[in-house]
Amino acid sequence: MAMASPSVNSHNVLFIFSLLFVFLLSSLAQQSFRPKALVLPVAKDGRTSQYLTRIHQRTPPVPLSLVVDLGGRHFWVACDKPKYISSTFRPSRCGSAQCALGTHSYCGGCNGSPAPGCNNNTCVLSGEETVTRVDFNGDLGSDVLSLPSTDGSNPGRMVSVPQFLFVCGYDLQLERLASGVTGMVPLGSTNIALPAQLSSAFGFPRKFAICLPSSATSSGVIFFGDGPYNLLPNIDESQSLTYTPLLSNPISTSAAAFVGEPSYEYFIGVKSITVGDKLLSLNSTLLTIKSNGLGGTKLSTVNRYTVLETSIFAAFTKAFISEAAARNITRVGAVRPFEVCFSSKNIPGTRVGPVVPHIYLTLQNKDTIWTITGSNSMVQINNDVLCLGVVDGGPYVQTAIVIGGYQLENNLIQFDLARSRVGFSNTLLGRQTTCGNFNFTSTA
Ligand SMILES: *[C@@H]1O[C@H](CO)[C@@H](O)[C@H](O)[C@H]1NC(C)=O
Ligand SMILES: *[C@@H]1O[C@H](CO)[C@@H](O)[C@H](O)[C@H]1NC(C)=O
Ligand SMILES: *[C@@H]1O[C@H](CO)[C@@H](O)[C@H](O)[C@H]1NC(C)=O
Ligand SMILES: *[C@@H]1O[C@H](CO)[C@@H](O)[C@H](O)[C@H]1NC(C)=O
Repeated sequence: MAMASPSVNSHNVLFIFSLLFVFLLSSLAQQSFRPKALVLPVAKDGRTSQYLTRIHQRTPPVPLSLVVDLGGRHFWVACDKPKYISSTFRPSRCGSAQCALGTHSYCGGCNGSPAPGCNNNTCVLSGEETVTRVDFNGDLGSDVLSLPSTDGSNPGRMVSVPQFLFVCGYDLQLERLASGVTGMVPLGSTNIALPAQLSSAFGFPRKFAICLPSSATSSGVIFFGDGPYNLLPNIDESQSLTYTPLLSNPISTSAAAFVGEPSYEYFIGVKSITVGDKLLSLNSTLLTIKSNGLGGTKLSTVNRYTVLETSIFAAFTKAFISEAAARNITRVGAVRPFEVCFSSKNIPGTRVGPVVPHIYLTLQNKDTIWTITGSNSMVQINNDVLCLGVVDGGPYVQTAIVIGGYQLENNLIQFDLARSRVGFSNTLLGRQTTCGNFNFTSTA
């Protein structure tokens, strides 16, 4: 008997330990499920070509349709109409830690009856409707934001950020946005844009990737956190990215910026442009970001097409027209907003779009090249006419090259803020997939 009791005791101890272990595991799973990555759908609005995402906010949760702004600073939604109703909304008080996360805030009040967007002693930040560049001041507040986690292949269980910060805007700012939209989702590099708030809530790297769809009938995808970024038929696109440094612009190009405020948009260093076999002769001063914030190349989801400074536009279109002529492609009259259009007669179609001269953006060295094929350069006007999808920004643009949404479609582009670099895939069409190929069937 004396020999048996220690063994019974250690058995009991083991049993208690394993019970405790199981209990710990299940409570961990319930209370602190730690997603490694999150995912959102992105649709292209048929009428405006704005890129829209859907995300849940408030208690009870309301699905919101919001315009995606790659360079946006503050998450904002209209709080007046449709009326904002939620039991978990909290205004951010003046002088609070939340308020300190925003730049250039001031303390505001309101004479009406208290509501989201109307409170006393509340932190006020500037918001911007960046599609038409209208800025406004709005109260900062917080509420529950929910979105699906992902293993990189499917959406998984929903996770929430309990005190997600956003600015209350007004329905006045929705007029020029797609119908049904109630605000904008910023992906810029501020401390309170969506990527930073998600990274800090869930402790994953400050990294996200966008993959914009090319039509209103397919759904693209935005990933937050690390890869895999799997697209059917099971290709991990995070493995085949080419990287270029993310450049910072010391001066914001935003309409809502304060004097001297840095830019929170994403700039890359285009050193030269080649069209077909022709290297363009460009004024290199324009391609460099200067201390006054002028010049350089940025990526934008709120510009529908690429906008070029006048001298770059002239050199670019001249080269494109002559390279096209060498292929017996006939130029036809302009179709607004495009200046350079062609008859589709001598332009066969392929997987990577109409066969036209490729455009090569040479980045930090001669081996790092962003290639733009016909799928991203040509816009189909009708059966007979294709136009070069770039527009002339005039001589006084702030940024020499703004690469617009159309040129980003069906490319996966990762923004790695921790390592200050941008990873790009080039057109996915060349790799037998598209941005519409994320499997949105939930496994939750
Ligand atoms: C803000 O304070 C003023 C003055 O005390 C008061 O009249 C007003 O109703 C308050 N507004 C809100 C939204 O509580
Ligand atoms: C190049 O662009 C800069 C900035 O716009 C301008 O000041 C300069 O005159 C241009 N140089 C040439 C050779 O056109
Ligand atoms: C262009 O057309 C001319 C005359 O029809 C023909 O000789 C030439 O081979 C064509 N070039 C190409 C690149 O198709
Ligand atoms: C999409 O994901 C679901 C859930 O994992 C799976 O059952 C389905 O086969 C997937 N679809 C394709 C086309 O692979």
